Amino acid sequence: MSVDPAISPRSGHTSGLKIPGHLGVIMDGNGRWATARGKPRTEGHVAGVRALRRLVELCIRYGVAHLTVFSFSSENWSRPHEEISFIFALLRRFVATDLESLMSNNVKVRIIGLREGLDPSLCRLIDDVERRTADNTGLNLIVAFNYGGKADIVQATRQIAAEVAAGRLAPSAITEDTINRALYTSGIPDPDVIVRTSGEQRVSNFLLWQGAYAELIFVEENWPDFDENSFLRVLEAYSARDRRFGGVGTFKR
Ligand code: FPP
Repeated sequence: MSVDPAISPRSGHTSGLKIPGHLGVIMDGNGRWATARGKPRTEGHVAGVRALRRLVELCIRYGVAHLTVFSFSSENWSRPHEEISFIFALLRRFVATDLESLMSNNVKVRIIGLREGLDPSLCRLIDDVERRTADNTGLNLIVAFNYGGKADIVQATRQIAAEVAAGRLAPSAITEDTINRALYTSGIPDPDVIVRTSGEQRVSNFLLWQGAYAELIFVEENWPDFDENSFLRVLEAYSARDRRFGGVGTFKR
C-alpha cells in the first residue's frame, strides 16, 4: 500500500498552503487502533471522538468552512449489536456534552442521513442541536450518521419524482442543481478533498454525487492517531494537486 507521494513530513510552516473550503473525512481504523493496543474496539471509537474534537479545532484554526465526517454508514448496521449501540451512545454524548463548546466556538451542526430506524429520542436530540446551532456563523460541522451516498441519491430521486408526478416539475427541467438541492447536503458546497485514514483506499459510499471532483487523499494512520501533523500533511498534499475539473487549466476555485 502506498501513500500519496505528495505527502511529505511537516514543513514547519503553513504559508502557501491552500485551505479546502470543504473537507470530507472517512474516519477509518478505530477498531484496528484499539485491537493493536489490546483494547476492545469500543475504546477505538472513544479515541475516535477525541480525534474528531481535535479536527474540529484544527478546521476552526486553519479556516476550513465546512467539515463533513462519516461517523456511521448505512452499511454499519451489519456490526455486532453492542458496537452499534455504543456508537449511537457516543453520538448522543457528543451532541450533548459538546454542545456548549460548539456554541462558544460558533460551530453550526448539521446531521445528515436517514432518520428512519433511529430512536425518536435521538432524532429529537439531533433536531435540538441543529436548531440551537443554526444561527452560528463559524465552521459548518456536518456529521454523516446512518448515511449512505446511494441512499442519499435514492431519497433525492424520490423527492424529484414526486414533484414530477404532481405536475410541478417537467422532466426536462431537471438539472444538476435540482439534484443538488434534493440531496441531504443541500446548500453545502461540494467537498474539495476527501480524506480516508487507516490506509484503505476506497470511498465506501461517502458523498458519491458530491465528491465527483474531490481530491482523494489516503493516509496511513488510524483515525484516533490523526493529529495536527496529519492534518498539515493533508493540506500539503491538497496544495500540490492541480485541480482541472475536466479542463486543462491550473488550480482554480
Ligand atoms: C471506522 O472505524 C469508524 C466508524 C465506523 C465509526 C466512526 C465513529 C467515530 C469516530 C466515533 C463516533 C463519533 C460520533 C460523532 C458518533 P472501524 O470501526 O471501521 O475500524 P476498523 O476498520 O479498524 O475495524
